Amino acid sequence: MEPYVTTGMTESTLAVDGGTPVRTEPFPTWPIWEGTDEEAVLAALRSGRWGSRPGSGFVDAFTNRFAAFHQARRAIAVSNGTVALEVALRAIGVGPFDEVIIPAYTFVATATSVLSVGAIPVFADIRPDTYLMDADDAARRITARTKAIVPVHIAGQPCDLDALIGVARKNGLALIEDAAQAVGASWRGRPIGAIGDIGTLSFQSSKNLNSGEGGALVTDDEALADRAWSLANCGRMPAGAWYHHEIAGSNHRMTEIQGALLLSQLDRLPSQFALREQNARLLDEALSSIRGFTPQARDERVTGHAHHLYVSRYDPQAFGGRPRAWFLSALRAEGVPCSPGYETPLHRTPAVLSERRKWAMLAKESGRQVSCPESPDAENLPVTDRASREEGVWFGQSILLADQRAMHQIVEAVAKVQAWASSH
Ligand SMILES: Cc1ncc(COP(=O)(O)O)c(C=O)c1O
Repeated sequence: MEPYVTTGMTESTLAVDGGTPVRTEPFPTWPIWEGTDEEAVLAALRSGRWGSRPGSGFVDAFTNRFAAFHQARRAIAVSNGTVALEVALRAIGVGPFDEVIIPAYTFVATATSVLSVGAIPVFADIRPDTYLMDADDAARRITARTKAIVPVHIAGQPCDLDALIGVARKNGLALIEDAAQAVGASWRGRPIGAIGDIGTLSFQSSKNLNSGEGGALVTDDEALADRAWSLANCGRMPAGAWYHHEIAGSNHRMTEIQGALLLSQLDRLPSQFALREQNARLLDEALSSIRGFTPQARDERVTGHAHHLYVSRYDPQAFGGRPRAWFLSALRAEGVPCSPGYETPLHRTPAVLSERRKWAMLAKESGRQVSCPESPDAENLPVTDRASREEGVWFGQSILLADQRAMHQIVEAVAKVQAWASSH
């Protein structure tokens, strides 16, 4: 660890009140690219073939390499992480009026993908220490209509896959890993994604592996992979004729330019992964001594954390009762970019509520029953509500690509704000 010598004279006046900020230099921006990325994109451009075709090209080379990287028998490239989820659900056979258990502390796509196939998202709570799906609560939400569980590896940390796969197997359910934020993460030595039945990833512009937009599915199940490929390729069969369509699929293909960029970005991922991990460990240790600011706990079975986000819990009581919004403003003024993350959990998100109500009404009209609580409060998701409303504080992944001095400055800024708040 590089030594970082604080002056010991950190000015106590907060920057938000006109004091001197702890840090004035910017943090690394995202995305990062070099000559190799320019060459890759130019090679795809000059190939004259910008759309992907099975059997050759940059997208094929990427999916082969990505499958090996995630230790999955198969990978299928698609246009983004949202459609990857929709394709996974359809490939599993989830359809109208089925129920799918998901967390409510996640990006909206985890729920809207379920609704897009006519199924009903049923929310399970998260664990207070990790903000990852609580397997016991997921088990309690199972009904005769449940078809699948979709845990989300939020922030890049794998969920408790031992417990969740146990719940899924015991109840005859499919397990789809929403690994949009977790490229390269691993659980007990194995990359996530294909540990459950199928996993989905996102290469959207904020993600740790990025081609502007893009996504993938990974699985060890050949039949599931073939179905997913067909669904994403207009219903064609993997070895079938171009104008032969067996099933009603859609066009979710990735372009060759994205494939080329992903291949070159993938070269850089392991070193970025290691740097984020090193800096996150440093923050974990140093922040743990600050009262009221607690980094996300890490399960010891997590052998690789992607750190798409660095998530901590803010306790207003340790900051003189001041709300999270005050803390975020104060920390930003000290030069540390941060955000509250998901402020509205999905069981309170208007788009999800109205769409779920629509499907519940249709179910009722056709004499079916589905889980649809009367109001968001009746969902009973206390940990999710607390995380969204008052606790969660996020640092983005590119913060973790800064040097160690920057990590020490983050710690110094949090400590400065806490010291001021607890004494005023
Ligand atoms: C947890 C989660 N699921 C799904 C998605 C959807 O991915 P995309 O933005 O590529 O559609 C995202 C990305 O933002 C995400 O964070």
